Amino acid sequence: MSIQCARAVPVVLGALTLISAGGSVGFATEAAFQTHCLKCHSRASTLARRLKGDTRDERAAALSKFLEDHHLDDPAARAAIVKYLVEQTDP
Ligand code: HEC
Repeated sequence: MSIQCARAVPVVLGALTLISAGGSVGFATEAAFQTHCLKCHSRASTLARRLKGDTRDERAAALSKFLEDHHLDDPAARAAIVKYLVEQTDP
């Protein structure tokens, strides 16, 4: 029983980290873009303008899929960057 409780601790800590990161999403997502994309893409707004898809959901889905195979293995960073770029597009 106590072993199971100990296993739960990292999961809870991880969830708390996600929740607290939510408070500063704007900054965190921009930093993720700068870390992973800026060396090859100088302007986020240029990428955002060229995203394909008629709705935000479509653009987010297409970009997320594209990034799986485009210099980004980290799913958390991918989600943050997708959100950051798609938020800069029209509704
Ligand atoms: C090592 C350099 C490099 C890195 C790092 C990189 N890209 Fe790219 N990216 C490219 C190149 C070169 C192209 C154009 C050729 C192609 O489509 O592969 C491209 C194309 C794209 C496109 C398609 C643009 C279009 O015109 O349709 C998107 C969207 C994109 N990148 C997003 C990103 C994002 C978001 C990141 C950060 C996770 C990123 N890229 C990181 C080099 C890079």
